[in-house]
Amino acid sequence: MIARIGVVGGLNMDIHLFGGEDRAEDGAYLAERYLIEPGGKGSNQARAAARLGADVVLVGRIGGDEFGRLCLDATTRDGVDTSHVVATDEQRTGFVVIQLVEGRHRSLVFSPGANLLLTWDDVVPALEALAACDVVITQSEVPADVVDRLVDWSDSSGVPIYLDPASPQQASRRALTGSEVITPDALEASALAGRMMHGSVAPILAARDLMASGIRRAILKLGVDGALLASDGTITHVPTRAVEAVDETGAGDVFVAALAVQRSGGAGWVEAITFANAAAAVSVSRSGLALPDRDDVDAMAELIGPARVVS
Ligand code: RIB
Repeated sequence: MIARIGVVGGLNMDIHLFGGEDRAEDGAYLAERYLIEPGGKGSNQARAAARLGADVVLVGRIGGDEFGRLCLDATTRDGVDTSHVVATDEQRTGFVVIQLVEGRHRSLVFSPGANLLLTWDDVVPALEALAACDVVITQSEVPADVVDRLVDWSDSSGVPIYLDPASPQQASRRALTGSEVITPDALEASALAGRMMHGSVAPILAARDLMASGIRRAILKLGVDGALLASDGTITHVPTRAVEAVDETGAGDVFVAALAVQRSGGAGWVEAITFANAAAAVSVSRSGLALPDRDDVDAMAELIGPARVVS
C-alpha cells in the first residue's frame, strides 16, 4: 500500500557554504565552495517522503519571487502535490545561509519571510486531503498557532501528527503533548528538557525528562550516535551506521520523512527508526540536500546493528 503523507511546513531558499575553521585577516570566513538550492524543513520532508514512494501533499507559503518559484518547482518535480502552497507578495520567500565545516553545521542564519504568514485559513482548504493521510508532519518553521490548530484537528480527524520541534522555543505545550511523536535533535531535546547535554547518559536523561513531562513519544535524533526512542516508559537506543559527513543539511528532515513512510506501511517504531537512521546516514554522506531512494536506504539499513533497551 502506498503511504500517504501530509506536510504543513516551511519552504526556503538555502545557501550552503563549505569551508574550514580559518578566518582571513579581516575576520571573514573563506568558503571553498557554495551551492544555492531549495530547502526548508517542510519542502525537504515532503520531497524526501515522495522519493521514498509516498503520495505527498504540502501546505506552506512562499513569496511571489524567483526563490519561491524555484522552491515550488523543485517540490513539484519530486511529485509532491503543491496545490496548497500559497504565494504572497507581502513577504519574500524564506532564506537560509548555512555555514558547514567538515559537513556539519557551524552556523545558520534564517530569515523566515513568507513562512511566518502561513495561517490556519491557508490550511483549511487542504484539510480534506490531509484527512486522507496516514501521517501529517509539521515543524516550528511555521507559526505556532497553526501547529496548535493542526494538533487540535488531529484529535477529531484521528490523523497522527509528527512534530519536528525546530525551533523548540516556539513549540507550545499543547503541540508537544498532543503530537503522536516529537523528533528533536540533541540540542532541541536539551532545550525542551532544560538540561545540558554533557556526557553519554545526558540524552537518556533528557529522553526520560521528556517522557515525564507528558510527551507521548519522543525520538531523539543523535546523528552518528543513532536515535533514542522514549515511549511507554522505556528508552531504546537504535544505532546507525557511521559515515563520512559531507553535508548534514536536511538529514533530520529525511529522517522524519522516512520514519513517517515506514510507520504508514505498518512498521513498528524500532524498525521504522532503523530505516530513518539509514536514510539520514545516506543523506549526510552526500553534498547538498540529498534525498535517498528506497534502494539506497534498504542497503544502508542492512549494515545497522540491533536496537537495545537502555532504561
Ligand atoms: O532542516 C534543514 C533545513 O532547515 C534547511 O533546508 C533550511 O532551509 C532550514 O530551514
